[in-house]
Amino acid sequence: MVHRNPSASSEAARFARSKLPEVGTTIFTVMSRRAHELGALNLGQGFPDYDIDPRLATLVAAAMTAGHNQYAPMEGLMSLRQGIAAKLARSYRIAIDPETQVTVTLGATEAIYSAIQAVVGPGDEAIAFDPAYDSYEPAVRLAGARCIRLPLMPPDFVYDWERVRACIGERTRLVIVNSPHNPACTMLSRTDLDRLAEAIDGRDILVLSDEVYEHVVFDGRAHATVLDHPELAGRSFAVFSFGKTLHATGLRVGYAVAPPELTRELRKVHQFNTFSIANPLQHAIAAYLAEKPDIGADLAAFFQAKRDRLRGALAGGAFQLPPAQGTYFQLLDFGALAPPGDVAFAERLLTEAGVATIPLSPFYERAPALTVVRLCIAKRDATLDAAAARLAKFAERLT
Ligand SMILES: Cc1ncc(COP(=O)(O)O)c(C=O)c1O
Repeated sequence: MVHRNPSASSEAARFARSKLPEVGTTIFTVMSRRAHELGALNLGQGFPDYDIDPRLATLVAAAMTAGHNQYAPMEGLMSLRQGIAAKLARSYRIAIDPETQVTVTLGATEAIYSAIQAVVGPGDEAIAFDPAYDSYEPAVRLAGARCIRLPLMPPDFVYDWERVRACIGERTRLVIVNSPHNPACTMLSRTDLDRLAEAIDGRDILVLSDEVYEHVVFDGRAHATVLDHPELAGRSFAVFSFGKTLHATGLRVGYAVAPPELTRELRKVHQFNTFSIANPLQHAIAAYLAEKPDIGADLAAFFQAKRDRLRGALAGGAFQLPPAQGTYFQLLDFGALAPPGDVAFAERLLTEAGVATIPLSPFYERAPALTVVRLCIAKRDATLDAAAARLAKFAERLT
């Protein structure tokens, strides 16, 4: 039997002064839960609904059977870090030292968190760009620093580098960029990276570059990484995710790549944050990388076909489809059907059309009036077709 102390919860509320008072459950979790409850097709949260490569599952089982079930090394299994360095060499022709520059983390989320905790503190400022992935600002604030949110300029979500320059000051310690960009589906060009380098030149400012969608790039584009940029490489953390690259977001294995001095600081946080990452998973991914050193190479064609399938199915209807240069996502513009208000429209899509989407407002500090929601394309063709049919029918009802 459970004895309850009636005054306990009110006392707890008094003592638990929230460090993030306005933060609730993320929109991704909320939408997935509601999609499940309502039986809606879930094009909201960014995760695949198709099977992973069975070979990866076999390797995970084999790693556990072989007894790799105790703590892995804090910085990551050497064979996996070597595989990551080889993969970076193949993708970008860069030489990364697996010993001093690669740290295996609990998804890219932990890499982002640990990097931020390692380098920003009270009195510092970090710059992020809206719409911004939702983990950046809380991590900055938990480090005691302030997050300055600069907008990417509509309708194409372009960077205003003059504004960035104007915003940089004595307190600026970190600039956080994300390319390919979730949720804008845009990419930083090499020129953007040059402008970023110019903006922080001569100052004690670091860069955190979220590159989890590095391979999901469309129409022949090439991903521009900070790791091969002559000025940025020496002052950047780049973060990556095997969840995205292996179509298995539940693996929760990612990595951070940075110069040795920054890696050393990141590991100081990592070792007290997660300490080390699931050992059998690291063995399995290392073995998988050894068998398929080209992982990632087919992702562009795979996801481009999905993007084109969804776009094709919705073409000619009342929804507009802004260009998507990369990522797991495609934006859907409902401006011809309803007034601005993406949260309200996402709710209608969920309850009336039976399709879960993600509004963009939660990615903003101060959201403008928006007529776009985000659709995830990392879904089976049948899911995409069914969702497109539901969306088209709903659009017809509205017109
Ligand atoms: C832009 C961006 N960064 C980071 C992450 C987190 O990656 P992980 O699942 O490996 O923690 C995501 C996941 O959706 C993302 O979209």
